Amino acid sequence: MNPVNVGLLGLGTVGGGTFNVLNRNAEEIVRRAGRGIQITQAAARAYDPAALPGIESIDVTDDAFAVVDNPDIDIIIELIGGYEPARELVLKAIANGKHVVTANKALIAMHGNEIFAAAQQKGVMVAFEAAVAGGIPIIKALREGLAANKIEWLAGIINGTGNFILTEMRDKGRDFVDVLNEAQRLGYAEADPTFDIEGVDAAHKLTILASIAFGVPLQFDKVYTEGISHITREDVGYAADFGYRIKHLGLTRRTARGIELRVHPTLIPERRLIANVDGVMNAVLVKADAVGPTLYYGAGAGSEPTASAVVADVIDVVRTLTADPENRVPHLAFQPHALSDVPILPMDDVVTAYYLRLLATDKPGVLSDVTTILGKRGISIEAILQKEPAAGVAEVPIIILTHSVQERQMNDAIRQIEALTSIHGTVTRIRLEHLDCD
Ligand code: HSE
Repeated sequence: MNPVNVGLLGLGTVGGGTFNVLNRNAEEIVRRAGRGIQITQAAARAYDPAALPGIESIDVTDDAFAVVDNPDIDIIIELIGGYEPARELVLKAIANGKHVVTANKALIAMHGNEIFAAAQQKGVMVAFEAAVAGGIPIIKALREGLAANKIEWLAGIINGTGNFILTEMRDKGRDFVDVLNEAQRLGYAEADPTFDIEGVDAAHKLTILASIAFGVPLQFDKVYTEGISHITREDVGYAADFGYRIKHLGLTRRTARGIELRVHPTLIPERRLIANVDGVMNAVLVKADAVGPTLYYGAGAGSEPTASAVVADVIDVVRTLTADPENRVPHLAFQPHALSDVPILPMDDVVTAYYLRLLATDKPGVLSDVTTILGKRGISIEAILQKEPAAGVAEVPIIILTHSVQERQMNDAIRQIEALTSIHGTVTRIRLEHLDCD
């Protein structure tokens, strides 16, 4: 059988990795796919030929639209990233009857509903395993491996750069900016690294995971998103005193009132496996009704780990080229007509536990004022710790861990606590999840 012709858009970190993995493992890939897979044309503005052995034998253009319009190409791999022109290119490829493989989480989270509808209409596939958690086959696991289950919740460390920064700060006391620069050098960070630090990248990925887990349309605009830039070394240390680690989690949970969809720094018990996922590694913990908890772990960013997922998608597409489009695995795991309109919960309605850090005047009655405010709102305290004041400072840090409470109640309590004359500055609040799997 003739090889399948592929057009590659982008020869950067992931594009280069994809080119090299496809070439290096060509023999194994033919044995798996049943057909050869060859990149015949690529689009890139700049690339390093020395890092891409064999690149001289294919046509490289700087016009990505020429690749999507090339009638000899069957599959487009989009590795340009960002919203535009990626959206336009992907829709054009679909209109031209080509299958698409993409690693672009921003594109899928923001425009996936439109893209999948277009693909459905044309009977082509859009595969996006590499969009979430780099090399971990989490899309396949959720969409196929767990298809028998009702998924209850999932929690993931789904941004490698953020996890790398938090880990280096904790273990080596390194400076935030210094670690971020290294992540950029290693090709982990987004073109705009605030997407990593402020949680936007994780929110893109969580949007995709939630849709596949619960069968709801993609709703990026409804994700509560909080970054890690306000996390201090003190918070990391106090959390450790209580037996917790701070991780930047994406969390989605089905509740009776709707779906929680949130990205924020989170204290998790240090004995949980996921609390020990360090560096650029990602992990997703899925709680489902039949199988119970399952944990997926691996490299969440980087050239060849991400290429691993891209190439696996290409092989999947090649294997199903002759299959009836109606019988393929649906893009969002559930049949398009069976997607549910269950609402996404506003953050005020979410129920979670909290870590609070406040700076108080060291005098009698202060703690009782604070605990009265919490108690009046039905907020129960799990643990409390007053630290020694720093040398020459009159105020003392107080750390409180609470049991679960609705966010609205906690917001109200924090407002009241900050209004006390004995409390200085703002209250630091970090959410806390036990991730119980019983
Ligand atoms: N910037 C992303 C990360 C790349 O750090 O996880 C992989 O999506």
